[in-house]
Amino acid sequence: MNRVLGIVGAGKLGTTLGLAASDAGWQVLMCDVAPIDVVAMIVEAMVPQAQLVSLPELVARADIVLLAIPFGLSDQLDYSLLDGKVVLDPMNYWPAVDGDVAALHGWTGSTTDLVALRNPRMRIVKTLNHLGYNDYAADARSGDVPDRRAVAVATDDPGAGELVAQLVDDIGFEPVLVPFDRSKLLEPDGPVFGRWLDAPSMRQLLGVTPARPA
Ligand SMILES: NC(=O)c1ccc[n+]([C@@H]2O[C@H](COP(=O)([O-])OP(=O)(O)OC[C@H]3O[C@@H](n4cnc5c(N)ncnc54)[C@H](OP(=O)(O)O)[C@@H]3O)[C@@H](O)[C@H]2O)c1
Repeated sequence: MNRVLGIVGAGKLGTTLGLAASDAGWQVLMCDVAPIDVVAMIVEAMVPQAQLVSLPELVARADIVLLAIPFGLSDQLDYSLLDGKVVLDPMNYWPAVDGDVAALHGWTGSTTDLVALRNPRMRIVKTLNHLGYNDYAADARSGDVPDRRAVAVATDDPGAGELVAQLVDDIGFEPVLVPFDRSKLLEPDGPVFGRWLDAPSMRQLLGVTPARPA
């Protein structure tokens, strides 16, 4: 089935993942706040098979909405559009880029816990945040290659997890499904961030046991 990935933000991560997903057979929709002629040029050059659309159209058509925007600007998005949608959050808080974010003062959860509060009806998944954008191009391998680089997929929504795990697999990485309460461990100060890990090592560091074969 032809799946649709909607990417909000046509920057480094958004265009890299957009190209990987369209190469893997996903239909890719993109939107950005930058002037339309600038975004059109970027998308045409970087993700030629993607379609540039408005945010409401992207949300309406996408199976997964991927928020590839700076965390510090992410509160400006209209989250009311995202009711019932599978929302993939790859955002990291980088003080040098994002500045001081008042909502994080005294916050002990993950940034995705905070994003989830903006609309509790979203089907939130945290993933694709713990590798650099270059890694997605450099380390992608097809599923028949043993010991692929693992990518953790944190969610408590089994259907959303399965769909996002399929995307991760399709773009060349070994998805490791973990409960949403592991989200914080995927962040920049956590044990898996930026590391090359296979699936067993990822599971061990995140304290999960592999599913038993049926
Ligand atoms: N780069 C990486 O290696 C990497 C890896 C993992 C995770 N991440 C995370 O992924 C996110 C994006 O990172 P990036 O490196 O791709 O940043 P980037 O290159 O700066 O791209 C972000 C894009 O989002 C656009 N944007 C900002 N607010 C928007 C909004 N409300 N709606 C639509 N588009 C919006 C920006 O447009 P303007 O430029 O016009 O503002 C820009 O084109 C960040 O949260 C980052 O922490 C990045």
